Amino acid sequence: MFTLAHLSDPHLAPLPAPHWSELLNKRVTGYINWQRQRRLIHDAGVLKNIVADLNAQKPDHIACIGDLTNIALPDEFVRGRVWLESLGSPQHVSLVPGNHDAYVRGGLEYAAREWGAYMKGDDGGSFPYLRRRGPLALIGLSTAVPTALGLATGRLGAKQLAALADMLAALKRERLFRVVLIHHPPVSAARWYKLLLDAAALLHVIAEHGADLLLHGHDHLAMLNWLEGPHGTRVPAVGVPSASAAPGMAKNAAGYNLYAIDGAPGAWRCEMILRGITPNGDVAEQKRMMLAG
Ligand SMILES: [Fe+2]
Ligand SMILES: [Fe+2]
Repeated sequence: MFTLAHLSDPHLAPLPAPHWSELLNKRVTGYINWQRQRRLIHDAGVLKNIVADLNAQKPDHIACIGDLTNIALPDEFVRGRVWLESLGSPQHVSLVPGNHDAYVRGGLEYAAREWGAYMKGDDGGSFPYLRRRGPLALIGLSTAVPTALGLATGRLGAKQLAALADMLAALKRERLFRVVLIHHPPVSAARWYKLLLDAAALLHVIAEHGADLLLHGHDHLAMLNWLEGPHGTRVPAVGVPSASAAPGMAKNAAGYNLYAIDGAPGAWRCEMILRGITPNGDVAEQKRMMLAG
């Protein structure tokens, strides 16, 4: 059996003190937003407990689905690297970036510099990258693009979508359990300014080529949507709460998922286990369900 862990949106706190010159752009509203509201939600102590519990489960691999930063300050990327190292080595942890990591132009360059080893394929390739781990093929996509003030949208673009289609088709022939990692959900009830702009095109690729599991973050909610796959199959698209959300301060308190994957091509078994923070700060199992098998 192979165990994959899925956590997202740590939004590492506290925010480093910005230099005034670093706030002469979209960051200024993000900074005000952080001081007013978000700093009360994203709690470093909660995240520490979540990571300690996750590491104690000894998963075979960890998928981290983006939004490590808040307003993409250079220091946030350095802290992000230290935090990633607390999860494990780049060999053990696969990362995709979120919209906050591309909050301003230049964010993705910082991300590449500090986190690059966690965001590349076995062949060194970039998005979509491909990593093979046990029976799994992990495909990492980037929806992180700098956007105008007030927008938290994401975009894959035609090039990534075409490469994703080719990868899914080839990996099906290899009979691997195909896991797609993407920050923005393909299906979401969020407002228009938070959505994945080319979600319809992504759903089309999944409907044509299938996948075994799609992991996302971004909405900070425990979510499960069934996507249409080829020949009447269904693909589970799963979202997790923010890994740092303090209990009582957000719709969903912090949590992460484990997937116990077993079986063989055509007869995969995949059990999902949600572990989350409780009001007393402990982390406990909250839900368990079969996604396949
Ligand atoms: Fe987020
Ligand atoms: Fe996000």
